[in-house]
Amino acid sequence: MSHQTIIVLDFGGQYNQLIARRVRECGVYCEVKPYTTPLAELKKINPIGFIFTGGPNSVYLEDAPKADAEIFELGIPVLGICYGCQLMAHTLGGRVVAAQDDAAREYGRTETFYDTGCPLFKGLPEKGVSWMSHGDYMEKVPEGFALAAHSKACPNVAIADVKRGFYGVQYHPEVNHTENGVRMIRNFLYEVCGAVGDWTMEDYRRTAVEDIRRKVGGGRVLLALSGGVDSSVCAALLAEAVGQQLTCVFVDHGLMRKNEGDEVEAAFAPWAMNFVRVDAGERFLGKLAGVTEPERKRKIIGEEFIRVFEEEAGKIGAVDFLAQGTIYPDVIESGAGNAAVIKSHHNVGGLPDYVDFKEIIEPLRLLFKDEVRQLGRELGLPEYLVSRQPFPGPGLAIRVIGDITREKLDILREADAIFREEAARAGEDKNLSQYFAVLTNLRSVGVMGDGRTYDYAVALRGVTTSDFMTADWARIPYEVLDAVSVRIVNEVPHINRVLYDITSKPPATVEFE
Ligand code: XMP
Repeated sequence: MSHQTIIVLDFGGQYNQLIARRVRECGVYCEVKPYTTPLAELKKINPIGFIFTGGPNSVYLEDAPKADAEIFELGIPVLGICYGCQLMAHTLGGRVVAAQDDAAREYGRTETFYDTGCPLFKGLPEKGVSWMSHGDYMEKVPEGFALAAHSKACPNVAIADVKRGFYGVQYHPEVNHTENGVRMIRNFLYEVCGAVGDWTMEDYRRTAVEDIRRKVGGGRVLLALSGGVDSSVCAALLAEAVGQQLTCVFVDHGLMRKNEGDEVEAAFAPWAMNFVRVDAGERFLGKLAGVTEPERKRKIIGEEFIRVFEEEAGKIGAVDFLAQGTIYPDVIESGAGNAAVIKSHHNVGGLPDYVDFKEIIEPLRLLFKDEVRQLGRELGLPEYLVSRQPFPGPGLAIRVIGDITREKLDILREADAIFREEAARAGEDKNLSQYFAVLTNLRSVGVMGDGRTYDYAVALRGVTTSDFMTADWARIPYEVLDAVSVRIVNEVPHINRVLYDITSKPPATVEFE
């Protein structure tokens, strides 16, 4: 695959992945590399530009992370953001000091004035809000640099050496709070680095298919398909590339949401590939009977999944490639921390140990989640699969509190489906990162018609989050919650009470179990 590439050099800032996503949204491919990456390796990528990210450090400190100064000798443009800007100034002969007084420290929304003669700000308004977060002050700007933006407190909010293609901004253009920030990044890419915009999903699809064909040859590929976005898009891409050489095994553990198993099967019906659906609901329910402890549920489901998959793989025999839907955030190596930690992520834990295969193939390794969805659309997958919210591997087992029975699963499925329908009807689904119903093991007294009821309380959970490490409870409008509640108690037998969870994470978690 040959694309123009931007290297996002990671100094440990909190928005680094966001920078990379913004670059790609502008139609330019980019990779995030830790600042410790050897220069030779960076040169091999042949980038058209570098973006130095923000970071938690001060450049004048002894052990501050530094980039190889030779980067500035390569004749390749550099955009420094925040720490990246100060590092560039420091390296090229400027002086950065700790801000002496509070006035020179800037945090949050700041009115900023731009020199629209500077390529970075070409075609943009002369004034706008930018999102600052710097405690250090650029006392002396390096030779060759001009001031390109200022605020009331700071004369050098942006600096530019147009001749060498070096630009630095003390704010974060990648965050939404910065007005026209993405257009500034776009200007850097197109006006400064000479980007042509050769990163599109159409293009990716074509080259990825060619690459997979070349790699797989006449070999056989096996994929565990969960019905989640990543494995679904992975399946569609592989199916397009190698058709019948692909076998997808979809283990239906009986803990899916309403109609989910059939939907997944229907979605893949048009594809020429081997689709194996294993209806293992009985088997899983049998193992889970009487189990109430959440971690034990997870363990049983994980082990049983492996066993079922193993049996199916055994029927297929040896394969050449085991495919996985690993995506880019799982493989980014961070520049933060002492030792760079590579997060390794396997969609199905432990798979490689027990399936007979020669090599792993991960065709989504380069893509962010939104790009995976885009690719799914490009490949013609139905929207309900592509825009699907995350769903935990153990499924509804961890949303039925306490012991799991078929009856409870059926009750929960109906309530959950109503919640999803009403959220979608109101257009609220787009504002929610994850939302679902939970069948509590609380039963309480109600009154229906003239009779007393003693039935289950269902809890609704809706959260907003960017990374699922922390989450806020979603402010779903009362009218929507009301519509959901009325429908659930009317349409789902054995529920007489609907609760809405208003706890953030922490202290709660997203799931109840
Ligand atoms: P928690 O409950 O930990 O959830 O705040 C964070 C995210 O992880 C998902 N989750 C799981 N996903 N297996 C999974 O594949 C699990 O056992 C599991 N537990 C939680 C949860 O749905 C949310 O998106």
